[in-house]
Amino acid sequence: MREESPTWLVTGGAGFIGSNFVLGQRAAKTARIINLDKLTYAGNLRSLEPIKDDPDHVFVHGDIGESPLVAEIFRRHRPQAVVNFAAESHVDRSIYGPQVFIQTNVVGTLTLLEESRRYFEGLSADERDKFRFLHVSTDEVYGSLEPEAPPFSETSPYAPNSPYAASKAASDHLVRAYHRTYGLPTLITNCSNNYGPLQFPEKLIPLMILNGAQGKPLPIYGDGKNIRDWLFVNDHCEALALVLKQGRVGETYNIGGAAELANLEVVTAICGILDELRPDSPFLPHASLITFVKDRPGHDRRYGLDTAKIARELGWRPRESFMSGLAATVRWYLAHQEWVESVQTGEYQQWIKKHYGPEAPKHTGTERTSCIR
Ligand code: NAD
Ligand code: TYD
Repeated sequence: MREESPTWLVTGGAGFIGSNFVLGQRAAKTARIINLDKLTYAGNLRSLEPIKDDPDHVFVHGDIGESPLVAEIFRRHRPQAVVNFAAESHVDRSIYGPQVFIQTNVVGTLTLLEESRRYFEGLSADERDKFRFLHVSTDEVYGSLEPEAPPFSETSPYAPNSPYAASKAASDHLVRAYHRTYGLPTLITNCSNNYGPLQFPEKLIPLMILNGAQGKPLPIYGDGKNIRDWLFVNDHCEALALVLKQGRVGETYNIGGAAELANLEVVTAICGILDELRPDSPFLPHASLITFVKDRPGHDRRYGLDTAKIARELGWRPRESFMSGLAATVRWYLAHQEWVESVQTGEYQQWIKKHYGPEAPKHTGTERTSCIR
């Protein structure tokens, strides 16, 4: 007899990675999904439009920090897994206002853990065997790498440098503690920078694509030599599904793209793709829009991940190369003007003005803001 598909509680499933994950899992029909999202500026129901009539996707508008709501979801839907994407995720915003990062990423995750524990303790032995709590985290918890240092492994010490990274580190520690103390079957993943469709255009890659297409300056912090490892979002989602299914309980898995690149290289590559896709653009060459601006305070110099563990234990490797994934991403943003307009709301305009405009505070303000239109 065919086993009934399980129910998963996915949090933050209207955000960038969460919506890609939910769409992918619903397309593959792996699970019925209860999607709990607060719909902050970063959450967008439009991203979930392809599954708006899917009876096996239930959207719940709410906060992971709201105990009674989370308890009610557990009672009503009896999920076999929790996948926690919900978070405040932008380093620059965490520099302006760390409190909401602590509230959602730390206190919210604690609430979700506590309600998961209560629910887990009431399950039968068989149900407990199957239950998993997967916490989606970042490589930023490890801090900054020296230029020649080997990449971070799962045993590297935590050394977060931004309020965002510190809040994610704190949540990782809580997840670990719930496994050790209460036996909650947890899994933690630490992933490098994601890119792809449906990413809010405050982050480097979509911001540069949209600014470039509109002939606006491309603001590069500092000398542009800060290095990030980049992973196409679908590859991350596949890795998460694999960790959920086959990961060893209590373990941490690094997920990365083996694509360490300096920011200037990334932006130059985007400009090259725009030049090819828009040969009649009045802004050719797009690289002439590159503008060096004041550096981010505490800006980590380099991230890089050793992903030998997930390759060895679960057989995962990224499918997409950086250049093919980047080209697909640029094409997606150029073809989805409606989605882009739907997220470039008043709040978005305010953020751009506050962070890049002439009124920006000294610590993050740009030195050549006059060309930001
Ligand atoms: P995102 O900012 O695009 O989306 C976050 C989602 O969480 C939004 O839909 C938002 O509405 C929701 N949310 C925020 N606060 C909430 C709350 N209190 N209750 C319920 N929902 C809430 O983020 P993302 O880039 O999709 O990242 C998802 C997760 O992956 C985060 O935990 C992030 O730390 C982690 N991560 C992201 C990256 C990356 O490059 N984007 C890399 C590694 C790890
Ligand atoms: P970001 O997308 O914010 O991700 P994170 O800070 O989590 O790595 O930034 C990626 C890199 O790009 C980071 O080194 C900061 C840099 N950056 C710029 O140079 N200019 C920008 O306007 C933004 C948003 C980021």
